[in-house]
Amino acid sequence: MAKFLIGFMGSGKTTLAKAWSKDAIDMDDYLEQKYGRPICDYFDQGEEDLFRQRESEILQELVATDQIIATGGGIVEKAINRELLKEAEAVIFLRLDFEPLYERLKQDRKTNRPLFLSLKKEDLYHLFLKRQALYEEVATTIIEVADRTPSELIKDFLNQ
Ligand code: S3P
Repeated sequence: MAKFLIGFMGSGKTTLAKAWSKDAIDMDDYLEQKYGRPICDYFDQGEEDLFRQRESEILQELVATDQIIATGGGIVEKAINRELLKEAEAVIFLRLDFEPLYERLKQDRKTNRPLFLSLKKEDLYHLFLKRQALYEEVATTIIEVADRTPSELIKDFLNQ
């Protein structure tokens, strides 16, 4: 079964997954390639629901693999996704406070983060708060990111 990295945008899921395994899959990239459509386009066209449905289908497809998978920050929003994640071999929650996350997001303006680009800081904070309990609900391991690099995080993770 797959191992998943979960957490809010900017928590370092993709970087850590790629440092852990060069074959790791980033679900956002996978979805963009599979459907040939950039994520921001779904949001621009008012089709977030379609994006969420496709994200869920991809999760279902990947959960039975042996891959290491970096999820999108919103994966825990759907109850069905949380149930799927509970079937995985491991679900690692990368936890970081809101302010450092926000600073990271400002530095790293990835175009596949339409929510960061469109939401006011206060609204993003509310989204962050709402999701914390959902990440905790499905996590098998919680890693405090603090100011540690991906290689330091991996060392800690493998040593536990
Ligand atoms: C989203 C996070 C993004 C991407 C999409 C929606 C979210 O992924 O899936 O923009 O709802 O938090 P990252 O967490 O990899 O930035």
